[in-house]
Amino acid sequence: MRIASFVGQKGGVGKSTLARVLAVAAARSQRRVLLGDFDLEQLTCVEWSALRMRQGIEPEIDARAFKSLKKLRKTVTGYDLVVVDTRGLADELTEDVSKESDVVFLPTGTSMDDLRPTLSLARRLAKSKALGNKIVIVLSKTGRSERLVAQAESIIFEAGFDMLNAVWPERDGFQSDLDMGRAGSESSNPHLKQAALEVEQALLALTLGHAPVSRS
Ligand SMILES: Nc1ncnc2c1ncn2[C@@H]1O[C@H](COP(=O)(O)OP(=O)(O)OP(=O)(O)O)[C@@H](O)[C@H]1O
Ligand SMILES: [Mg+2]
Repeated sequence: MRIASFVGQKGGVGKSTLARVLAVAAARSQRRVLLGDFDLEQLTCVEWSALRMRQGIEPEIDARAFKSLKKLRKTVTGYDLVVVDTRGLADELTEDVSKESDVVFLPTGTSMDDLRPTLSLARRLAKSKALGNKIVIVLSKTGRSERLVAQAESIIFEAGFDMLNAVWPERDGFQSDLDMGRAGSESSNPHLKQAALEVEQALLALTLGHAPVSRS
């Protein structure tokens, strides 16, 4: 059983979205996957999973709310993969969940406003020896400027962190898909589907531990 978690110091950067994208990718590749939602205020993943079920979208994604790591540990038997979504603010649980994980994804936008707190959290987590090589930064909700993406990549590279080998582009279509209980490659738009497949494959490879690692 593997655990992949999505953590961050910034709200709205795509943690819950990428958690759903990875969960869908894993479920579609015949893995028994649990989406563990630690954001009890928003319950984004739990609500989305219920919506997905109401819409009759297959495969069903098993999503549950968790308050503590202890509860999660008790529940995870029988799953191949647990995808953990956490709150917008890094807290004690962030570090505990991260330590428990095989891979820790930190989604971030390309702006310095997003990169600064993300890299600062990454440095904080990396102080723990158990975590140093599990941290992967994901450029998320990127705009259409290749220059801004390249600039962000070089900042992450210089900071010495690994990066996902694909970026998650900001597109209105992804938002409407999420609002209908879909995620990632379930998009009906072929361009979005292709972009999502690249992200899914990169997330899944790192999660399952046979990684074409990162750009950096
Ligand atoms: N690629 C995308 N294109 C357009 N909209 C997106 C994309 N990815 C996510 N969104 C939207 O951006 C918003 C924030 O995404 P999400 O909820 O995944 O962020 P988050 O990091 O989990 O936020 P929070 O810290 O509040 O939990 C949501 O409304 C979501 O639907
Ligand atoms: Mg969220």
